[in-house]
This record gives sequence, structure tokens and C-alpha cells, in this order.
Amino acid sequence: MRLILCGFGIVGQSLAKLLESRSEDLYVRFGIKPRIVGVIDTKGSAVQTSGLDLNKLLDVKKKYGTIKKYSPTKNNLSGVDLIKNLDADVLIETTPSNYKDAEPGMTHITEAMKHGLHVISVNKGPLALAFPSLMELATYNQVLLRFSGTVGGGTPIIDYAKNSLHGERITSFDGILNGTTNYILTNMANGMSFKTALSDAKKKGYVEADESLDLDGLDAAAKLVILANWIMDLKVTMPDIKRTGIRNVSEQDIKNAAKKKCAVKLIASCNKDLTVSPIEVSVDSPLCVNGTLNAISFTSEHSGTQTIIGRGAGGIETASSILRDLLEIRQEISKI
Ligand SMILES: NC(=O)c1ccc[n+]([C@@H]2O[C@H](COP(=O)([O-])OP(=O)(O)OC[C@H]3O[C@@H](n4cnc5c(N)ncnc54)[C@H](OP(=O)(O)O)[C@@H]3O)[C@@H](O)[C@H]2O)c1
Repeated sequence: MRLILCGFGIVGQSLAKLLESRSEDLYVRFGIKPRIVGVIDTKGSAVQTSGLDLNKLLDVKKKYGTIKKYSPTKNNLSGVDLIKNLDADVLIETTPSNYKDAEPGMTHITEAMKHGLHVISVNKGPLALAFPSLMELATYNQVLLRFSGTVGGGTPIIDYAKNSLHGERITSFDGILNGTTNYILTNMANGMSFKTALSDAKKKGYVEADESLDLDGLDAAAKLVILANWIMDLKVTMPDIKRTGIRNVSEQDIKNAAKKKCAVKLIASCNKDLTVSPIEVSVDSPLCVNGTLNAISFTSEHSGTQTIIGRGAGGIETASSILRDLLEIRQEISKI
């Protein structure tokens, strides 16, 4: 399978490492030889139609800060140039998530689908702003759009709801979908002020460059949009989410909750309404996980409520979700 990779940051590089270390095993177990034929970062591109040498690509990125130096030719192409000019099967979108216009990911994804490429996106922006129309575009162009890494990183939250509960009717779900705010709230429950907890989270590298994405609940809301569309068949986008972040959670709120054997958690909920807000959760609830963990409880018509817990992010974890999507795409297209 020939892949175009847009973005070569934490997730993109983790994917290159994963494909390199698993290449023999992927061929023996699944009969696939994924080859990255083109990649871009902010400064340029690297192209090799027979497949880029991934160790060289990683070395070049480390040494020069860009993959542009991989080769003196074809090193100034854009994502759209790669999509239009390379023979490829799948576009993997790993540029940053933004919730204003979702660019450049939106253009990469739509152009790829129009050119008949299947798409795997870990970038939440385009899905949060336009999930229903992107799905329509995929159907119209007879390609697959997959996005396991957008919710839960390597924890297979989307796969669980879609496949393990296949045939069930999920009636509602609630969860902690943002590990950074959970880390801050956990530290506040342990006595830290909001300010100290935030600066500790920043030091550990947990906070997005634009802290508003975490603190104002945008990241959690984007994940809620993706789950609501994919699992509940709701045709919703970001403006449909009622959203309150954690900036106004006070130390007193945390103490009041503790007196009732509860903890304040930023909960994304798909019930009658779609909401993201800080609420008190009983410390005995399976949803009451601490640190950077994510947890989500699905309630279905006949199977009761089940909770899935795991790390919500991480480069290699998210890269492994891309591999899962790739194998699923391979399986689906081999049925045709
Ligand atoms: N990291 C995680 O744990 C995680 C988990 C789940 C989902 N995600 C999502 O996955 C995506 C990637 O995350 P990340 O942590 O890998 O981010 P990152 O380290 O910031 O990497 C982003 C990459 O995109 C490139 N890029 C940015 N703007 C671009 C543009 N206009 N044109 C071409 N390339 C551009 C950057 O280029 P430079 O290298 O030149 O800066 C970089 O290589 C994001 O959407 C994020 O929300 C991340």
C-alpha cells in the first residue's frame, strides 16, 4: 500500500518508526507492505515513488528539523501537489488540529478523497467542523475515511463502540475525553491551585500550544462530535455542543465535591443534549479515573453500561491506531 503522509511531527515520526520496526511482521501476518511515497512538513517535502527510506527520513528530520533535506529534488511540494501527482492508495493526515477553518487538514482530506484515495486522519479539526459532509464526500467518491486515533489515541474507544457493540443500540455515553484537563483536575483534588496545576501540566508537555483547546473544552468537544456522528448517527458539528471548560473550577468547588465523595471531572456527554462541562462524579464511579487517563462509559439497550479506560494520547499509541485503520482499509478493499 502506497501512503502519502501529511505532517511529520510526533505522530508522523512515530508512524515511520512503527512501520520500520514492524515491516516484516506486517508482511508475514497481514500480507501488506506499506510504503510512504511522499511526506510534507511546514518547510517542504520528500518524495520517492518506490518508498522513502524511513530511517534516513527520521535522521534527516532530526538533523535538519525538516524532511526537505531528504533529497534535492521534489522537496518543495505541497500536500495537494503530492495528492495530485503521486500514485498512492491512502492519505494519512497528521497536521495540527484547528477548530477555526480546520486547515490545512481539510484541504488535504477533501482533495485526497476527490482523487480516489482512502483517508486516515488523526487530525480532529476537519471532522469536528464537517463530519457529515466529509462522510458524504467519502461515500460519493467510494473511498473510506477512518479516524481511530482522533478519540482515545491508542485506546480503541471508537472500535469498541462500533465493532464490539455491533448490533446493539447505544443509547448514551459519557466520558473524560481530554487527559490534560483530567491531569489538572486530579492535581487540584490533591491540593494544588489551578495555576500551579496548569504550569505543572505545561512542564510535562501535556498542554496544547494553544492552551484554550484543552482548558475551554474544545478538544473534548471535537471528540464528542466525532463519536456522536459515528456511533449515534447524529449529524452534528462543533456549534451543536454546549461547552464549558475548566478555567472557572475553583479550589472551593473541588473541596465541596470531595465532601460528597465526588471529584470534579470534565465530562463530555451524549444524552438528550451534547455537552462538555465540569461536573461532580462519584469517586466510586468507573469514570472517576485520575491523571492523564481517559474513560468513557457506553450505555446500550440490552448490554447495560460498559466503561473503557486507557491513555488518551501519545505518539506511538496514536501511530498504532493509524496502523489499525490501515489494516481495516486493506481488509475492506480486499472484499470488493
Ligand atoms: N500527539 C498525540 O498524542 C496525538 C494524539 C491523537 C491525535 N493527535 C492529533 O494528531 C495530529 C498531529 O499531532 P502531533 O502531536 O504529531 O503534532 P506535531 O508534533 O505538532 O506535528 C504536526 C506536523 O504537521 C506539520 N505541519 C503543521 N502545519 C503544516 C502545514 N501547514 N503544512 C504541512 N505540514 C504542516 C508540522 O511541520 P513541522 O515539523 O515543520 O513543524 C509537523 O510535522 C494533530 O492534529 C493532533 O491533534 C495527536
